[in-house]
Amino acid sequence: KAQFTGRDFICLQDFTPDEILHMLKVAKELKGERKGGTPHPILQGKTLAMIFTKSSTRTRVAFEAGILQLGGHALFLSNRDIQIGRGEPIKDTARVLTRMVDGIMIRTHSHQDVTELAKYADIPVINGLSDFLHPTQVLADLLTIQEYKHRLEGLKLTYIGDGNNMAHSLMFAGKMGMHVVIATPVGYKPDAQVFAQAQAQAKKHGGLVEWVEDPLAAAKGADVLYTDVWASMGQEEEAAIRMKAFQGYRIDRGTMEMAQSDAIVMHCLPAHRGEEITEEVLEGPQSVIFDEAENRLHAHKAIMALLM
Ligand code: CP
Ligand code: NVA
Repeated sequence: KAQFTGRDFICLQDFTPDEILHMLKVAKELKGERKGGTPHPILQGKTLAMIFTKSSTRTRVAFEAGILQLGGHALFLSNRDIQIGRGEPIKDTARVLTRMVDGIMIRTHSHQDVTELAKYADIPVINGLSDFLHPTQVLADLLTIQEYKHRLEGLKLTYIGDGNNMAHSLMFAGKMGMHVVIATPVGYKPDAQVFAQAQAQAKKHGGLVEWVEDPLAAAKGADVLYTDVWASMGQEEEAAIRMKAFQGYRIDRGTMEMAQSDAIVMHCLPAHRGEEITEEVLEGPQSVIFDEAENRLHAHKAIMALLM
């Protein structure tokens, strides 16, 4: 635990494959204890401040219920209510919260706000999604893949859709020895810098990260198919343009036929049925989407238990 105490969880880039495997192991243990009814008050008396400037169901509930199950307490701080919403600087908020609570989770637009918060806070800062990254989701996703496939190494994960925060964080599954293929339209590729970083980290650990334009070619032989919305939070005005640009970048029956016959289908949720995924696939036998959502709870408890 010592190597984790006090650290931030801002991006998967910062953690070694061994550290990620350890977090997954702790998540699995906590999940087992919860299923078995064994209490685990590891964070008794500790408080997590949760800053949200965007909507959330899973992330909020996973952190809030999670810390309660660990014996601690969460504060839900919407930007509509706290002074950040009226222009108080992040760096001031960071120093005030440091003196009162034991950890901060933030979901916001600008990734720079997350790193600024971490710079000025002397307590762990957890990135609950920025426009750039969504690392807590990917930890839960890796847990889900391990549960279904009993390994990570050597598996092919194909992501079809927008080169967004989800794509950026998923690419770091490459350093777990996975073969990650990102299929996006040319105009919606992942950020070139983070793509290169994911490729370099993957290469060091026997994995591979690729981009292709053709979603069907990308799905060929996949063990895991993954998608996310075409228009993320904050991109509502681009929804109509994106709807056109992403035609074909959907997981449907045709995509499933290209993948391994025992491929699993994942989506971080919320989903737009009929856009990035069909109702048939989302509700179909290969979908593990609700196990994936549940695993947010267990994975986030592991993050808090280790960092705080
Ligand atoms: N997947 C995810 O982060 O869900 P919420 O937006 O509901 O938190
Ligand atoms: N890409 C999506 C993920 C939501 C969990 C968004 O940022 O809105």
